[in-house]
Amino acid sequence: QHVALTIDPAFRIGEVDPRLYGSFVEHMGRCVYTGIYEPGHATADGEGFRGDVAELVRELDPPLIRYPGGNFVSGYTWEDGVGPREKRPARLDLAWRSVETNEVGLDEFTKWTRKVGSEPMMAVNLGTRGIEAAQNLVEYTNHPGGTYWSDLRRRNGTAEPHGIKLWCLGNEMDGPWQIGHKTAEEYARLAAETAKAMRRVDPSIELVVCGSSHQRMPTFGTWEATVLSETYDLVDYVSLHSYYEQRGDDRGSFLASGTNMDRFIESVIATCDHVRGAGQHKKRVNLAFDEWNVWYQKRFAGPDNLDVATHPRLIEDEYSVVDAVVVGSLLISLLRHADRVKIACLAQLVNVIAPIRSEPDGPAWRQTTFHPYALTSRHGRGVVLRVEPISPTYETSWMGEVPVVDATAVHHEESGAVTLFAVNRDQHEPLTLDIDIRSLPSLAIGEHVALFDEDPDATNTRDNPDRVTPTRLADVKTADGTITAVLPALSWNMIRLR
Ligand code: AHR
Repeated sequence: QHVALTIDPAFRIGEVDPRLYGSFVEHMGRCVYTGIYEPGHATADGEGFRGDVAELVRELDPPLIRYPGGNFVSGYTWEDGVGPREKRPARLDLAWRSVETNEVGLDEFTKWTRKVGSEPMMAVNLGTRGIEAAQNLVEYTNHPGGTYWSDLRRRNGTAEPHGIKLWCLGNEMDGPWQIGHKTAEEYARLAAETAKAMRRVDPSIELVVCGSSHQRMPTFGTWEATVLSETYDLVDYVSLHSYYEQRGDDRGSFLASGTNMDRFIESVIATCDHVRGAGQHKKRVNLAFDEWNVWYQKRFAGPDNLDVATHPRLIEDEYSVVDAVVVGSLLISLLRHADRVKIACLAQLVNVIAPIRSEPDGPAWRQTTFHPYALTSRHGRGVVLRVEPISPTYETSWMGEVPVVDATAVHHEESGAVTLFAVNRDQHEPLTLDIDIRSLPSLAIGEHVALFDEDPDATNTRDNPDRVTPTRLADVKTADGTITAVLPALSWNMIRLR
């Protein structure tokens, strides 16, 4: 079968905001403890952070890391995590029925984040707490000094403000599982007043208001409309969360997850723009897709059935080739909406549904999903172009008819290079892709890298950490303004043209 698409720099969607490649560290399971932090580990630095994990995070290079939750933040007392470690209390975290030892708090996390070359995105607790705790937190992190909270930060060893620019007004506040769950009206008022107070402390911050926890929530759409009607001029972004998994043996539907993400994003854009129109607002509220990934939620019994434990193993999903192809296709969907989706966070970073795995006292390694994420982040910078593949389709029980090939291209205007990202959802047959690049005559050669395997269920494990890695396929060349590449069956592909 053949698929054709055209790359033309005139068909711009929008500039990629590098924060599209963000990640997420929650105090959950072993993401922090024995994930990024393990003082006794052979590679630990002077602060107790693992060197091997930090090295993999640097390779992944997320420009932004959301923290400290997630559901965790809705019961969190941030003050517990600052000051001398020996004085910090151990607390019962009700989100994950875990003991939070508070060995890591915002000072350590922020320093670590900057050490790995990233920026923190901080969430405030709007579950059990509210305006005062949030405004104090911004004073602690961002105010230079001469006040109670900023001076406490200085006494705790950070003379200069942390300067945290991006803040989440709570987490998944529409979810009945959330500690301090609220109705849309309750949350909207609290978010509005908290936003005002936080901005009075530091007018330069950007704010993300909670959208729905997922698109199947019964209040999806009306929640966003109510919350945005109250907060439109006070916030910059509305959040989206979505997790995908294969149900039964319906792999065809799972591979269509990107189509579902497209529809979800477009619905939220429609609601934002409805509120903008109805309220006669000038500015545009953009989207922060600050939790997305493949997550086999069916395999997780849920927090209510957990025995209380310290740093337990929670949702340590092991990802396959298929999962990596789906992650690659979700990145394509995010890129396709680069004009409105400015922030996105792959949830999470280490161990907990993560691209990086680590064992206590043991090694750290890359999961299959690490690869499409790292490569898209590295090469998907520039202007996204509309490529409109002419592709055969297939029928799915979940998303109806979907194209076999999904693709997007990013034009790096300075160097002139173009990177095409494409997935072949055909589980059995390779596909020939004809790329028309007549409007970019300087492009002559290209490199084709793909992630695929004869065993689509293959995974990377502690004992075989590089079982699944991207393969460099034959170089591609222009002939009469066209480049032809063969996309292997069930594959994620990156074709870099220069
Ligand atoms: O990432 C795991 C959990 O998923 C987060 O804590 C929560 O926000 C979401 O439901």
